[in-house]
Amino acid sequence: MRVGVLVSGRGSNLGALIADAAQPGAPYRLVVVVSNRGSAPALDRARAAGIPAIVVERKGFDSRAAQQGEMVCVLRQHSVELVVMAGFDQILEPEVIAAFAGRILNVHPSLLPAFAGTLHAQRAALEHGVKVTGCTVHLVTDEVDGGPIVLQAAVPVFDGDTEASLSARILAQEHRLLPQAVRLLAGGRAEVKGRRVAVRA
Ligand code: GRF
Repeated sequence: MRVGVLVSGRGSNLGALIADAAQPGAPYRLVVVVSNRGSAPALDRARAAGIPAIVVERKGFDSRAAQQGEMVCVLRQHSVELVVMAGFDQILEPEVIAAFAGRILNVHPSLLPAFAGTLHAQRAALEHGVKVTGCTVHLVTDEVDGGPIVLQAAVPVFDGDTEASLSARILAQEHRLLPQAVRLLAGGRAEVKGRRVAVRA
């Protein structure tokens, strides 16, 4: 399956995907990386791996819809079948979601539906005082962070945790879960029934 990745920053989840896709027999290939930020270190990771890395910044367009319309063009030019949001910090326009309906994955650093709709879910979890948080890989729908859940992993919160220490513990699980979810979709092993995603071994 041909996978396109949307990024905005560091790109450690992209790194996990690059490593996984390089495994013999991986059922998917990363064919393009698109960033809404020209300064994203994720772009260097993509280029180092020989993946075309394209920048489509908001400032070059009249509206977010126009910018993301260009992103859809880039994804289509590369015949992308599955889109993965890996640390992409914009909300997707309905047109993008419709263009890849049921074929967009996002990774969010909380156990959804807790701490949905924030770019600082780890900080929000600490501030709320939860004892367990984690990460979620879900399909993207028009409801922000609200689409069907493909995989989740729980992560404990310790007394001495800072936002940085908790984020690092969650990130390790993101790196494990995101490639696993891509493999499930690429292998046709995830069946969506309403809100629920049934996973076949
Ligand atoms: C991750 O924590 C992801 O869940 C969140 O943003 C962070 C991106 O990290 N949406 P990276 O760019 O993949 O290193």
